[in-house]
Amino acid sequence: MKEIRVLVVFGTRPEAIKMAPLVKVLERTPGLKPVVCVTAQHREMLDQVLQVFEIKPDYDLDLMKPGQSLAQLSASALIGLEGVIRSSACQLVLVHGDTTTAFMGALAAYYSRIPVGHVEAGLRTYDKYAPYPEEMNREFIGRVADLHFAPTVQSALQLAAENRIAGVHVTGNTVIDSLKWTINEKFSHPLLGKLDHRRKWILMTMHRRENWGKPMEEVFKAVAKVAGERKDIEIIYPVHPNPEIVKLAHKYLGGKERIHLTEPLDVVAAHNFMARCHFVLTDSGGIQEEAPSLGKPVLVLRDKTERPEGVEAGTLLCIGTKMERVHYEMITLLDDEVAYRYMAEASNPFGDGHASEQITQAILDFFDR
Ligand code: UD1
Ligand code: UDP
Repeated sequence: MKEIRVLVVFGTRPEAIKMAPLVKVLERTPGLKPVVCVTAQHREMLDQVLQVFEIKPDYDLDLMKPGQSLAQLSASALIGLEGVIRSSACQLVLVHGDTTTAFMGALAAYYSRIPVGHVEAGLRTYDKYAPYPEEMNREFIGRVADLHFAPTVQSALQLAAENRIAGVHVTGNTVIDSLKWTINEKFSHPLLGKLDHRRKWILMTMHRRENWGKPMEEVFKAVAKVAGERKDIEIIYPVHPNPEIVKLAHKYLGGKERIHLTEPLDVVAAHNFMARCHFVLTDSGGIQEEAPSLGKPVLVLRDKTERPEGVEAGTLLCIGTKMERVHYEMITLLDDEVAYRYMAEASNPFGDGHASEQITQAILDFFDR
């Protein structure tokens, strides 16, 4: 039988972390030939992941330019991906989640009349500005996708509510597959030598566009206040390299005792610091899925989440970005053992670490039919 060529498209750090284990399974599956195209919407943060998973892309569009608008990035991604789809002679295009790369990958495939598989399908807030622009990106992708790989039953039901039933598969989230690669008891990192191991470590990240400016300032003030009040904690904050964020993070949190501002951690370091921390403070999507699997409470710096499974399980608490609330919830998790245990002992709703195999089987079945 002739090999089916599957074009796997990604461009940012989280997509890479969640597509890498799938690429590995596709590679070892007879009858399938993965062709990897990175847009490099991110550069260093993407390359860190490619290195860890030893993936050499077949195509690299190298699109990251500091300060480019969403429209500029979208236009160059759409045109670049159209060319890659043509020259790769692929029979299926896989995209992930809700980034600009994913939306443009799905659109370029549709324009070329190539079927689209959407990994991490069915996440919704139904608020077009939260998260912005991700909510609309994933809704648009849902319209053109032929295969929808929903991580949970809830996300599949969400698709059913939009009359999308054919082609929907509940697979678990590939991020759990990824943790199997990265979590390592013997993990070492230069930052480990700078942290007091008797203290409680808090891992923090923040990057969402809707949080730029005032919401970010409020959170940073709360974090600075907690760090000033508490000598029993260490805050580890790998700062997203967007200049908007770097500027604010250093203004409010730079040079403060017990706050460690770092460059983005590679994925092995990020996952292993998460496994060793007391709790997580973040507006990240992927971290909301990883932390439950590692038994870590997450204070979500957003008013709503498209991952209600984690809220229902008890691991995630959406606390918004107001200074007083962020300060209050951080202190509660530090001092209230019962509240902490409730969140830390919840079970992981995002799969068993075999999502990539399930997705691969669904692709084989799709072509078999
Ligand atoms: C993108 C995704 C978002 C995802 C996030 C993960 C969109 C619209 N947004 O947002 O869904 O949660 O990635 O991190 O697709 N930069 C670097 N080096 C890097 C990466 C970024 O310097 O390796 C800087 C550049 O100045 C770049 C800027 O960050 O222009 C923003 O990157 P961009 O991909 O546009 O948006 P993110 O906010 O990272
Ligand atoms: N992550 C990482 N290094 C860091 C911070 C986060 O590798 O310094 C990982 C994190 O563990 C998760 C992913 O990056 O797997 C989440 O990416 P991000 O928060 O940038 O995007 P989102 O998930 O919000 O789209």
